[in-house]
Amino acid sequence: MPPSPHEDAAAIIQTLMSPAGRADPFPLYAAAHRLGPVLAVTDSVFLVVGYTAVNQVLRNPGFGLPDTAPSRTAAADDHTAGAALRLMERSILRTNPPDHGRMRSLISQVFTPRRVAALQPSVVAAVDTLLDRLAESGADGCTVDFMDRFAFQLPVTVICELLGVPTADRHQFRPLASALTAALELAGDTDGPADTAARELGTYFTPLISERRTAPGDDLVSALVAARDTDDGRLSDDELIANLILLLVAGFETTTDLLGNGLAILLDQPNLAPALRSGRVTTAGFIEEVLRYESPVQVTTRVARADGLVTEGVPVPYGSDVILLLGAANRDPARYPRPDRFDPARTGSKPLSFGAGPHICIGNNLARLEASLAFPRLLDRFPGISADPDRNPTRRDRLVLRGYQTLSIRVEAATPGPLARHATGES
Ligand code: HEM
Repeated sequence: MPPSPHEDAAAIIQTLMSPAGRADPFPLYAAAHRLGPVLAVTDSVFLVVGYTAVNQVLRNPGFGLPDTAPSRTAAADDHTAGAALRLMERSILRTNPPDHGRMRSLISQVFTPRRVAALQPSVVAAVDTLLDRLAESGADGCTVDFMDRFAFQLPVTVICELLGVPTADRHQFRPLASALTAALELAGDTDGPADTAARELGTYFTPLISERRTAPGDDLVSALVAARDTDDGRLSDDELIANLILLLVAGFETTTDLLGNGLAILLDQPNLAPALRSGRVTTAGFIEEVLRYESPVQVTTRVARADGLVTEGVPVPYGSDVILLLGAANRDPARYPRPDRFDPARTGSKPLSFGAGPHICIGNNLARLEASLAFPRLLDRFPGISADPDRNPTRRDRLVLRGYQTLSIRVEAATPGPLARHATGES
């Protein structure tokens, strides 16, 4: 007997959560598209894969985030398990109206396009400093890890500057953010390292907030503290800490992955760098296609919070869990011809990599700004940039956040050693 549609969808989600599925989810996305845009895994769990369907769910106020479990609303007893989830649930990312609108308008007031655009000179300066360091570390053909030395450093430096977090502290943040965001995985790490990271980040921000309350600066921590204080409790202390941690972590983790994924594609497809340098491929077109083809955020989730919801003809009963595969929507053959082909010349692409609707990414302009300044300068500076043939890139073992752990590169050709000099007749 052929498997039922439920069994097919359940097999897809189960394989996606396995190491092989995490490493290469794309054949599974293609299989899901063949089954339809909205797949019932059980009577109350749905997998949404079609571009139109994912876009509709994200924009439909009938779909929202789960209500906070009563045990988690109790004032921050963060010494218990579940601290990472509690932290996410108090942040803008995982709240419903009216709390979501209250937080979003406060954060948007201080996270303005003007403030982001004004960052351009300091992003350029940060890129150039990091390129100088890459040149030093990679002199004479030495291998450098692009993830550690550039892809992480640039966004963490920028977000620290924007928030007003001392950049000297930034080295702590990569392992902490990585541990914390494991809680976002579908079978998330809901205790252990994620909770420890949540507590450590909370401990980090508490004195910083007091400091900025006494001596405000021209930074986002001060602005949010002031908004909280003048508006008489419009953001509780817990919410303030949760949102500052979210901004810090969201501000660099995903952008680190965008930079790494983009460079890996450039190294894999040698015609691309010359096309970008000559202007045959635009930087903006390249970045949009990296976002579509290798979305740094592959998955998000919602619950059905209204009766009678129907998506692409499929009824989704009240209370159902909905898994939205952003990465699959971005490879929907009904939306993108030859979806598995990297094609920076696509027009009107509008991938769903930053989400859509009320929770659409607040930092999308900043991420695009950083990438659009980084790639051209990197390619100009290192015309011979190449992958280290002796060290394969390693991926992060994640489904939700897609990126590299390491990406070993050479930024200049190795100086010929004595043997090579001898062979070419040099003295
Ligand atoms: C390539 C980089 C980035 C990607 C792919 C990305 C992706 C996303 C996605 C998919 C969402 C929506 C999640 C959902 O609807 O469930 C989101 C929300 C969010 N992002 Fe980003 N993001 C990036 C960079 C940034 C940066 C640089 C910042 C901050 C400086 C940021 C801050 C946020 C915040 C605060 C939210 C929550 C908004 C809300 O819930 O209203 N992100 N991001």
